[in-house]
Parts: sequence; C-alpha cells; structure tokens
Amino acid sequence: MRDATSQGYRLLDAVKGVQLSQRRNIIQFATAGTVLLCILILSFFFLYDDSSSPTAWSLPASLNAADVGPRTKISLCDGFDQKAVPSLLQAEAKYEQLLDNKFTIVIQTYKRPAVLNETLHRIIEGESKMLDQIIIAWNDLETPVPKDWNSPGGIPIHYQQSDKNSLNQKLKPNPRIKTKGVLLGDDDTFYTTPDMEFAFKTWRETGQSRLVGAWPRLGKPNKEGQWHYIIPGKESEYNMILTGLTFVHIAFLDYYSSSDVLMTQIRDYVDEHFNCEDIAMNYMTQYITGCPTIYAKGKGGARLTPKPKGMPRIGNNKGHLARRTACLNDFNKMFGRNPLKNQAGFLISAELHVS
Ligand SMILES: *[C@@H]1O[C@H](CO)[C@@H](O)[C@H](O)[C@H]1NC(C)=O
Repeated sequence: MRDATSQGYRLLDAVKGVQLSQRRNIIQFATAGTVLLCILILSFFFLYDDSSSPTAWSLPASLNAADVGPRTKISLCDGFDQKAVPSLLQAEAKYEQLLDNKFTIVIQTYKRPAVLNETLHRIIEGESKMLDQIIIAWNDLETPVPKDWNSPGGIPIHYQQSDKNSLNQKLKPNPRIKTKGVLLGDDDTFYTTPDMEFAFKTWRETGQSRLVGAWPRLGKPNKEGQWHYIIPGKESEYNMILTGLTFVHIAFLDYYSSSDVLMTQIRDYVDEHFNCEDIAMNYMTQYITGCPTIYAKGKGGARLTPKPKGMPRIGNNKGHLARRTACLNDFNKMFGRNPLKNQAGFLISAELHVS
C-alpha cells in the first residue's frame, strides 16, 4: 500500500502552470488540516481506480495547488524512523540559510577528462538560471586538479581534489555548496535544461525528502526472502533512483557523511566493494523519512555523453547485477530491515503518468 500523502504530492506536481510565487502567502501543507488530507486520500483512490494506461492527470477542481505553501522543509512520510529523524533535522537546520530557488550539480569523475569536458559543455550550453554552480569531485589522485573556470553564462565550475579515490566523495556536503538542492551526476550523465529544471521543481515541491531523478531501479524479494536487483521495464514499479542523476537535499549528504555508526559502516562497505553507494543513499533516505523516490523522466529522460570507441560502459553486465543484489541483502542486514518503498508513477514535464 502506498502512502496517500506521497500520492497527493505527485498529484500536485501534475498541475500545469503552478506559480511558485503565488504560493508564498498561503498556508503550509501541515496546517491545511484534515480536509486537505481527505481530498488527497480521495485523489489517491481516484488515481488508482483507473490504472490501465499512462494518463495525464489534473488536479480536482476542489483543490487548488495554490493552497499548498512552498515546502522549504523536509517532509516525512508514513514509517519514518523516530531515532534517525532528529539528526536529519539537525543537519537540515545547519543548511537552513542556503538557497532553495537554485541548485548545485556535483559530478564525480575518474581519469576521463574528455568525457567530462563534453558533459560539462552540454550542461552549461543550456544556461539554466537555476543552476548555481558545478562542483567536480576529482578522484584521480595522480593528475593535477584542473583550474576552476566560469562558463560564458557565468556558472562557476570548481574542481574538488579528493583525498581518496572513493565513490563516497560525491556524497560529501562540500562547504562551497550554496543551495539546499544538489543534483548528483556522473561525468557522462546529464538532463537537458528543461528536464533538469523540471526535475528540480519536482524535488523541491514534493517535500525535499526524496531522491528525485532519472534512473529507476527495483529491489524485490523472492519467496525465500532473498532480494534481487532489477532494472524495471518501461513504466513498471521501482523503489530506487540511481545517483547517476538525482536531486537530493544537502542534509542527506551531511547525514551520509556523518560519524553515525551505521553510516560509517556503510561508507566502509562502499569502499571495500567499490560499489552500491547509490543503493545505500536510497536505503538511507527512505529509512529515515519513509518517503519513496520519484522517477522524474522529463521529456527526454537521462542523457549519456557519447564516449570514445572501445570505452566500456559499466552497469549492464551480469556480474554487475549480482554484485548489486549482494548489496541489497547486505544492506537489509545492516539497516535491520528493508526500507524501500515501491512507487509506480513517473513524471513527464507537467503531466503525471501512472502505470
Ligand atoms: C571541451 O569540449 C568543447 C565542446 O565540445 C570543445 O570545444 C573543447 O575543445 C573541449 N576542450 C578540451 C580541452 O577538450
């Protein structure tokens, strides 16, 4: 059973032309009370009664999107973790002064300067006004880190020399970050500018408590209770979003990188296996907040920068899937339970599609 609240949030995203500025003076979601909740629950049934084919939904006339205030706080869903939430909220308070009308891109790279350069140019040529800065986690310890530069449109690009070639580097809350929202990326992944801005707004308006991004994945138990890592087919269920392209609140990066005992074990596990930092991020966010992820496809979906011939693309061979499956079962033990929540809809621009 999916939680009605998250369905409600998704419904709100389906509205075309939501004017953020109109929302400022209006009551917060939390104070809107039971009437709104009832409408959300009703709309949940409305959504799932007719689930045969992807459909674009609009908001019931009785509920105006402008009645829901801007969510500048991380929201929680059913099943949030009572013990973990205080530390998360503490982390959130630490970054309260950061901007929420812009976002930062953090890209991780290792010895592929040509691919990185292509990706950077594809991002900056879109001249997104919402993009504040690009930070590159430079994991190549042998090559001197390049000089920082500014795009012609004025977007600063900063190279952060890593102290260790680790997949955890991208998940560190870099002190240069001036925004609450961070788009995590790889050196060969990007969204077109309209899709990127759409995904950013979806993230910001759906509680900032989720990973909202471009690649859905599914963890699923078999009869024996063993979990398996699956690449979902078009429009089917998912419960993870890869960090190859996803928005996240900086407070989660803070939590992931903290001295918390479990997170320290998780980071060590990621370093030992050189894999699964993205699965760990999905476990962590859903474990704490109880909120499922959102697949924000946009019009074009995730883009991959073409690579020079012969360069292998990781991520689709059998060994890779088996390693990811092992991570699921190991993380189930480490977290003490599987916190992943299934989600079935995906978002294209301002239309909500439900499978
Ligand atoms: C980086 O990519 C741009 C755009 O394709 C290209 O014009 C430029 O020469 C590249 N720079 C380097 C150092 O490869």
